[in-house]
Amino acid sequence: MPQCSFDYRGSVVFVAGGTSGINLGIARGFAQAGAAVAVLSRSQAKVDAAVLALQEYGGIVLGFAADVRDAGRLEVVFGEAHRQLGSIDVLVSGAAGNFSAAANSMSGNAFKAVMDIDLLGTFQVLRFCYPYLRKPGGCVINISAPQAFVPMEMQSHVCAAKAGVDMLTRTTALEWGAEGIRVNSLVPGPIEGTEGMKRLSPPGPRGARQIADSVPMKRQGTAADIAAAAMFLGSSAASYISGAVLPVDGGWSLGGAGLIGQILSGQSETERGEKPPQP
Ligand code: COA
Ligand code: NAP
Repeated sequence: MPQCSFDYRGSVVFVAGGTSGINLGIARGFAQAGAAVAVLSRSQAKVDAAVLALQEYGGIVLGFAADVRDAGRLEVVFGEAHRQLGSIDVLVSGAAGNFSAAANSMSGNAFKAVMDIDLLGTFQVLRFCYPYLRKPGGCVINISAPQAFVPMEMQSHVCAAKAGVDMLTRTTALEWGAEGIRVNSLVPGPIEGTEGMKRLSPPGPRGARQIADSVPMKRQGTAADIAAAAMFLGSSAASYISGAVLPVDGGWSLGGAGLIGQILSGQSETERGEKPPQP
């Protein structure tokens, strides 16, 4: 657990996709530091549970059930968040979908589902939050992934979508800089106990150890590691950082991250009976 302290009292933080995993960890970090927090995701049950969990820190918490693919709904949600909380100081865009599938067997609709959630969804979150971002002083943090710059087998859809997210980071940083809005990408490494790792890593303690061993720092990350970096990026300590793509991954994207693709393609060959299972 990183030792750091940030004071976000008086700030408003909106976390799109903030009802589970890494993004809920980020929302927790900001709520604990005193921010008023709003979260959004598709499932009303997940939204309700996240709001309840975040209320434990004593601040204002709002929750919205919405799909980032639904532009009309996002327009309503951000208008309502602004009406209740005022200008948004930090926007975190982290809604995403992932599954393991080979490019030569995936349907166009499967590829499109991930592009629509991760890339178009991020664009729409930024686009419809933009009128309500604090100017100057607002900050956007897009949650990217090592797939944006480390090609991985069985991940063509995620690689394409997250690479797009990072270019969206850079172009909006260019367009919005003059208004005092900073835009950065935060790139988590393998984060323990998350839905993303459940979908990608080999099963069981052996699988978890294999992933940890592929990280130069020899451990998986925690949601608290990512929350600490998000709170840094949102703070005045990062006031001259914009357009950056920041890996928070114990050095994983320097080499070890590619292992996931090899494991996934090996598994699928085994499942298809083309390769005997490894002992
Ligand atoms: N392999 C291949 N194709 C898959 C798939 C898989 N494992 N899972 C879904 N698809 C395909 C579907 O078959 C469908 O294509 P088709 O119409 O040609 O059959 C397409 O993807 C869309 O599936 P659908 O279930 O309608 O999408 P959705 O919008 O309800 O859900 C997903 C989106 C598929 C990304 C879903 O996994 C999801 O909601 N994920 C969110 C949680 C998550 O992934 N967390 C980790 C974040 S890193
Ligand atoms: P997660 O728990 O599944 O988080 C995804 C969140 O997005 C959930 O709150 C989900 O809630 C929401 N969401 C999904 N589709 C949505 C949609 N169409 N509209 C609105 N909200 C939607 O996954 P995670 O593993 O913590 O991943 C979080 C982020 O970190 C993602 O951006 C992922 O790419 C990135 N990342 C993860 C890892 C990792 O190790 N896990 C590594 C690198 C990057 P609903 O189901 O209610 O919609």
